[in-house]
Amino acid sequence: MTAPPKKLIIAIDGPVGSGKSTLARRVAEMLGYVYVDTGAMYRALALKAVRQKIAPDAADALVTLAHDTRIDLRAEEGGQRVFLDGEDVTMEIRTPEVSQAASKIAVNPGVRQVLVAEQRRAGQQGGVVMEGRDIGSVVFPDAGLKIFLTASPEVRAERRWREHEQKGDAIDLKTTLEEIRERDRRDLERTTSPLVRARDAVVVDSTAMEPEEAARLVVMLANGNATASKAT
Ligand code: DC
Repeated sequence: MTAPPKKLIIAIDGPVGSGKSTLARRVAEMLGYVYVDTGAMYRALALKAVRQKIAPDAADALVTLAHDTRIDLRAEEGGQRVFLDGEDVTMEIRTPEVSQAASKIAVNPGVRQVLVAEQRRAGQQGGVVMEGRDIGSVVFPDAGLKIFLTASPEVRAERRWREHEQKGDAIDLKTTLEEIRERDRRDLERTTSPLVRARDAVVVDSTAMEPEEAARLVVMLANGNATASKAT
């Protein structure tokens, strides 16, 4: 009897709007893995900081806040739901205000330390698709498969803008592109865990790719890697 393939940790990193969430969710579904959206954790903490009027540069207060906060990601019918200290904040963490706040608090090394420890706990058993900015480089440098997903800034801005439009947020395409460029800059230039492509990551450019195509490609790579690691 052949043993079932090994359950991998699949790390998907990339800039805002590259399609990470759609890809990670779909790959998890196809492989029967757990999906973990680490950006949602930074967003949930940022929402709490905004509510408590803690400034994004109040470094120590933010680290204390991170220690005192419970963030749960639960897979439910219709998608993942995000709970902040038991309260469902799935919708609230997706506003432009929280996006900006999350990218500002994510530069804080102490905050990252707390959230990275949570992420390692969530993924250590394998059978997980985890998406973020530093999953393949910092959280799980030994992940069985690392994907670096990219797309042009214009295409990423358009995707984000459509999402906002569907929700009824009043924001125009030009402003969305400016915000994306600003967040890219912050994600790329921060000293602690900047967005980098791990050297052993497979680069997937989703500019002209359908989400389903990208998902099939990643599943194919995952099946190949799971077989290879079982044989060694
Ligand atoms: O993926 P997202 O846009 O939901 O992430 C929100 C912010 O959190 C984003 O500006 C970058 C930050 N982030 C991070 O620094 N590290 C991660 N692993 C995930 C997100």
